[in-house]
Amino acid sequence: MTENLIVFNARLVTPVGFTAKKGKEMGELLVMDNATVEVTDGIITYVGPNRGEERDGYYQRYWHYNARGRCLLPGFVDSHTHLVFGGERAEEFSWRLQGESYMSIMQRGGGIVSTVKATRTTNFIQLRAKAEDFLKRMSLMGVTTVEGKSGYGLNRETELLQLKVLHSLGNDEHRRVDIVPTFLGAHAVPEEYKGRTDEYVDFLIRDVMPTVKEHGLAEFCDVFCEEGVFSIEQSRRLLQAARDMGFSLKLHADEIVSLGGAELAAELGAVSADHLLHASDTGIRAMAEQGVVATLLPLTAFALREPYARGREMIDSGCAVALATDLNPGSCFSGSIPLTFALACIYMHMSIEEAITALTLNGAAALKRADRIGSIEVGKQGDMVVLTNDNYHFLPYYIGMNCVYTTIKRGVIYPSV
Ligand code: NIG
Ligand code: FE
Repeated sequence: MTENLIVFNARLVTPVGFTAKKGKEMGELLVMDNATVEVTDGIITYVGPNRGEERDGYYQRYWHYNARGRCLLPGFVDSHTHLVFGGERAEEFSWRLQGESYMSIMQRGGGIVSTVKATRTTNFIQLRAKAEDFLKRMSLMGVTTVEGKSGYGLNRETELLQLKVLHSLGNDEHRRVDIVPTFLGAHAVPEEYKGRTDEYVDFLIRDVMPTVKEHGLAEFCDVFCEEGVFSIEQSRRLLQAARDMGFSLKLHADEIVSLGGAELAAELGAVSADHLLHASDTGIRAMAEQGVVATLLPLTAFALREPYARGREMIDSGCAVALATDLNPGSCFSGSIPLTFALACIYMHMSIEEAITALTLNGAAALKRADRIGSIEVGKQGDMVVLTNDNYHFLPYYIGMNCVYTTIKRGVIYPSV
């Protein structure tokens, strides 16, 4: 569904451009008072000062929204989530509170593999309903585009099922959030392949990825490149095959240990490398040089009591940094955009302006969509958020609290409060 909409009397706050912002450019936002944005059939057709004139009944074809001076930003892009899954893992969370590590739970058969068991016994309708509920909540926090991964099937049938759920959510005519699907069959090694990781990689390349590609079920291919999960060599093999089949690439890189995932992302020309808590200096330089978007997920570091990724240093080294939530049932059961803003600014030392760019234009770039979304400019989709007041500093300052008043998707208004 699309609408014709005129938002007027807004304080416009947006990055400007059709590609990722790198380094200090990330802090440059356009701020314009008394601004009007016009959306025609879901696409932005005017951005500029308020216009008073009536033109031949032209205005009658538009809904009018008086922003009364409130901030108007691009819709937020959550470029890394695992929002389709069965079951929950509250038990594991309590073990972690008692001191057990994420990897030790995984190594004794819990973690991702326990969500795999639950997901394999959950049907399409149940998976879809649960994911739809997350999307609704995310929309209330200003999210207008979400990336979602498979990776809780780890067999042909359930990997495809997860991707079909994502597709069905993305094709809903009344969707509040656009969906970008990613194939993450290499999220863990399933029980059936225990001790035979290379054979599992062969299986994905031979028996699953061609079908995913053939049916257009995923745009990206991702891998959990981590010590004890998929090695650098196995990740390279999988991603090279994916690239040859026409997938764009992403990596879960250097999340738990410094393995060289950031370097691998640069070597392969991945669109993004995600997590990067332990990215090396060389890896950071390589990402900056090759234009790999460094996607940081501070909610996960927070939830795992791990050190935060070096966001400030990455920006100062010339990287394009994006922020995302990593919503998943294990390491980070949160899709909180407000808390993501706060953690990024407080602990990763990003400025408020940089954090806004990271959750809009650079999030869009991490999904190869910076030409279509991520800023309020003529030609882009009419995806925007209206804040509760005229001060965008509230985004991190009002810690963990929602200051989105209204979310606008392709020109359609969805009130949040
Ligand atoms: O991004 N690290 C791997 N994947 C997820 C966690 C998934 C899970 O624990 O279920 C992550 O942190
Ligand atoms: Fe993840």
